[in-house]
Amino acid sequence: MSQKTNIDISDDARLLHLINTEDTHEIEGLFHAARELCSRHYRNAVYFRGLIEFTNYCKNDCYYCGIRKGNQKLDRYRLTLKQILDCCRTGDALGFKTFVLQGGEDPRFTDERMVEIISAIRKEYPDTAITLSIGERSRESYEALFKAGANRYLLRHETACGNHYRSLHPGAMSLSERKQCLYALKDIGYQVGTGFMVGSPFQTPETLLEDLRFLREFAPHMVGIGPFIPQADTPFGVYPQGPLTLTLKMVALSRLILPKALIPATTALGTISPDGRERALLAGANVVMPNLSPIDARQKYALYDNKICTGDEAAKCRFCIERRIKSHGLVPDMSRGDYQD
Ligand code: 5AD
Ligand code: FES
Repeated sequence: MSQKTNIDISDDARLLHLINTEDTHEIEGLFHAARELCSRHYRNAVYFRGLIEFTNYCKNDCYYCGIRKGNQKLDRYRLTLKQILDCCRTGDALGFKTFVLQGGEDPRFTDERMVEIISAIRKEYPDTAITLSIGERSRESYEALFKAGANRYLLRHETACGNHYRSLHPGAMSLSERKQCLYALKDIGYQVGTGFMVGSPFQTPETLLEDLRFLREFAPHMVGIGPFIPQADTPFGVYPQGPLTLTLKMVALSRLILPKALIPATTALGTISPDGRERALLAGANVVMPNLSPIDARQKYALYDNKICTGDEAAKCRFCIERRIKSHGLVPDMSRGDYQD
């Protein structure tokens, strides 16, 4: 229970009411309660993760995603090991203690190749957390990558409603497989992040409630939430983007459900509103993920249109975000920022 707003997070009717409410007073109360709860566990710290987008090849064909295999307009790239290590070097010099390796489901990055990459990073940066965000793989694969030195894994469930999941993905993908991956990752010992888009086509307040129920059940260490943003060369290119306030409400509700979770103020939020990320931090988020990818890779990692920071040096984003955090009385924290049990 949050004392300020008296929100009982086990009460589904109450959660649904908050998903739907347009009462600004109530919404502000929700954001405030979420920020308070976050500060109680993590003070005013905001943790930094350096994002390395190392491949935009993907064997999947998710209807919303700009790097889907069916997008023939996209200029594809893969970073070499040397390029990845260069990104880490830049990140290390800027003080990052977490590297996030994110990419499409690219069959070229076999277990062997990933083990080679993870081992090389681990050897040079023994104390830095390595987070992977490379989609669905077998349990054996997840085990091998964990053994090689990966610590964390991000895999959004995208929507916790099976029917909705089927309307966002081709038949080859299923919610149950996605969930199996998530449970395997947790079982192996990764700190696990899941999450979803807000305002994706065919989403309803009820499917969002399902998302919250799934968070309650799965209890991830991290939750990534961002608005859906159309990408013109995808089947969902004509749908409207997700609403800002609803996205912030879902961030805040996730915080109330998971008081200790690490929740990023996502780039997608910064894309739909100039102060979207700051507003997420004030609604219970406590992580930022500035981009360390080489500039010429940035535009090509086009999950959605108009993505911010695609032309900016890593150092510029690092300090830009720091300034934004400080301007709201929050405190940039460059430590690893592990989940605190
Ligand atoms: N709009 C917003 N987020 C998107 N993602 C993929 N495509 C889009 C889009 N069009 C998100 C998915 C995925 C993460 C890497 O990016 O939630 O898990
Ligand atoms: Fe990239 Fe501000 S965070 S320019």
